[in-house]
Amino acid sequence: MARPKIALIGAGNIGGTLAHLAAVKELGDVVLFDIADGLPQGKALDIAESGPSEKFDVAMSGTSDYADIAGADVCIVTAGVARKPGMSRDDLLGINLKVMKSVGEGIRDHAPDAFVICITNPLDAMVWALREFSGLPHHKVCGMAGVLDSARFRHFLAEEFNVSMRDVTAFVLGGHGDTMVPLARYSTVAGIPLPDLIEMGWTTQEKMDAIVQRTRDGGAEIVGLLKTGSAFYAPATSAIEMAEAYLKDQKRVLPCAAYVDGAFGLKGMYVGVPTVIGAGGVERVVDIKMNKDEQAMFDNSVAAVNGLVDACKAIDDTLS
Ligand code: APR
Repeated sequence: MARPKIALIGAGNIGGTLAHLAAVKELGDVVLFDIADGLPQGKALDIAESGPSEKFDVAMSGTSDYADIAGADVCIVTAGVARKPGMSRDDLLGINLKVMKSVGEGIRDHAPDAFVICITNPLDAMVWALREFSGLPHHKVCGMAGVLDSARFRHFLAEEFNVSMRDVTAFVLGGHGDTMVPLARYSTVAGIPLPDLIEMGWTTQEKMDAIVQRTRDGGAEIVGLLKTGSAFYAPATSAIEMAEAYLKDQKRVLPCAAYVDGAFGLKGMYVGVPTVIGAGGVERVVDIKMNKDEQAMFDNSVAAVNGLVDACKAIDDTLS
């Protein structure tokens, strides 16, 4: 059987890391696409030359021609500009919206059967726009945010409790921005919810509040340290986890920016929710119960995402 084909639209920091991870995990043949002259070809060759040491059998190529993504099974989109210190994800909206138009049309024309994972920020609005421009079915287009935000939360919790991060589960919902909603009640150490761990004296409410805030600011913390761009190792790893769930029909329960129509009382919008990802794409949205405080935070986040979608519609009237 032929190997799956993975098209990476954007060959910058995240795109290059995605290509390397996809090769090392032998997920499929990789095509790196970028408009920057020589960049996708150079990264593809460099990664291919790591094959003999790493011992992977995948084909790796770079291109600036959308025809070369033809028949891709998975497209992961990072094309656009990344944040610099002092910028919010939302500051990227106008520039990256234009990029989503060309990428969406490229996918529509050359890889309409692909499972598409968007990473470009501001995430929830960009994944919505990408779906609109591409016209693909909603369940085949989603955004990577929740896996990353939850991974950051899990990392901070594992450090706080001095336990393996394998035993820490965490839930972060809502938009991928300052309004994201880390859900303490649904986050656990080996099944023990965080509120119980506070009662057990493992930590304090103050420390948990600080970790929740650090999770919300997780992207900005890295932008502040790097100074020249934004995070790329963990974002790439998170998207690869989602791609693998699709390619191997793993039915993973992963939070992602999915199209929600009916669940959570929402009418047709993209926002971060728990989902099941398998061979059908986003196969299910898991409609969890929230308490009053959690619902208020989620509503606030939904409103922020809707504000960004409205801003997209104001910039490009073909979207209204
Ligand atoms: N088509 C294809 N590629 C494009 C286009 C386009 N229209 N416009 C820009 N690019 C490419 C750039 O040439 C660059 O190589 O997108 C790449 C982006 O790479 P980086 O600047 O290194 O950004 P990266 O860190 O990979 O982040 C990409 O993901 O997390 C988000 O906020 C981040 O929106 C940003 C995206």
